[in-house]
Amino acid sequence: MNAAVDLFAPVQLGPYTLPNRMVMAPMTRLRANNDIPTPTMAEYYAQRASAGLIISECTMVSPLSRGYLNCPGIYTSRQVEGWKRVTEAVHGKGGKIFLQLWHCGRVAHPALLDEALPIAPSAIAAQGQLHTPIGKVPLETPRALKITEIPTIIQQFRRGAENALAAGFDGVELHGAFGYLVDQFLQDGSNQRTDEYGSSLANRARFLLEVMAALCSVWGGDRVGVKLSPSNTYYGMFDSDPKATFGYAISALNALNLAYIHLMEPNEADLAQREVINPVLPLFRPLYDGTMITNGGYTEESGHEVLASGQAQLVSFGKLFLANPDLPQRFAHTAPLNEPNPKTFYGEGDRHPEIGYLDYPFLEQAS
Ligand SMILES: Cc1cc2nc3c(=O)[nH]c(=O)nc-3n(C[C@H](O)[C@H](O)[C@H](O)COP(=O)(O)O)c2cc1C
Repeated sequence: MNAAVDLFAPVQLGPYTLPNRMVMAPMTRLRANNDIPTPTMAEYYAQRASAGLIISECTMVSPLSRGYLNCPGIYTSRQVEGWKRVTEAVHGKGGKIFLQLWHCGRVAHPALLDEALPIAPSAIAAQGQLHTPIGKVPLETPRALKITEIPTIIQQFRRGAENALAAGFDGVELHGAFGYLVDQFLQDGSNQRTDEYGSSLANRARFLLEVMAALCSVWGGDRVGVKLSPSNTYYGMFDSDPKATFGYAISALNALNLAYIHLMEPNEADLAQREVINPVLPLFRPLYDGTMITNGGYTEESGHEVLASGQAQLVSFGKLFLANPDLPQRFAHTAPLNEPNPKTFYGEGDRHPEIGYLDYPFLEQAS
């Protein structure tokens, strides 16, 4: 136990001394304009700059990585210019922000990809439906990547990391969670390959580790993190032995001297779906020597507790930061919290992006 450490204690994260341990978790809000971050997005992130660290919404590394409409990218110069406005606004308020790099893999549809088939480690469809320009449609069976195509995808992640540097971010986080491409390679329910990217634990972790090495080659390990969700069941994700799969991957990440691993606990939907590892943190913590950000359903009280236990060094909050731009101040004053409104989580195209986005009140406006 380390009772002196709580959410308000400063912490060293790579080269940065963060003023507190409250991280804003990455949250897709689908308010970009033609994949380009907007001034409204800059204002949204700047409102939340009192977080110890902000992690941006997931951001496309290539046109084929698009799983949603109005999601931002980081592969064109106009996207980089859009993100510059965001990083400048956050830095102007004294905050720090990492970009979350993302490829949706099989969680996509030809209607989002100029009629191309989604790509994945294996031709196994994800479960569920997606919003597309032609309405809500079931997920399509993807095409299995040829082994000769994989270096190109890794190169796209590297380019995303280089562009994030150019856009003024403080670091990058790889989205290795939630059933998207990196997770699809890791878990054997979605990866049935028989080449060096499939079957054995080492082979299934290879894509994750090669992408991470590419990001570290641009940023240095101490400004790179990765988010993993061993118990997440979205889109039909499944592994026959998640303890072994994620244990292998987490142990292997030690060698990269990263800024952090961002580890997600199961949510209610996961727990209702089937038996999953719960809780996640105590099982995997002993395998990792570095900084751990824990996520999933934390409150102020449970956040303080997990830090005092020494199992994690930072706690990320998703929905609470979405609804409370001044969350650290509210925690400090034991003030009431705004309720998140799920109806406005995701943008409505260009019509009213600011509703449910910029209009959650600050403490002084709340009475
Ligand atoms: C609206 C919304 C969008 C999200 N988008 C992302 C995302 O882009 N990338 C990601 O890794 N997680 C995403 N998440 C998951 C959050 O980062 C976090 O893991 C989850 O909300 C659990 O934390 P919480 O209980 O504190 O909200 C999203 C969650 C919400 C509510």
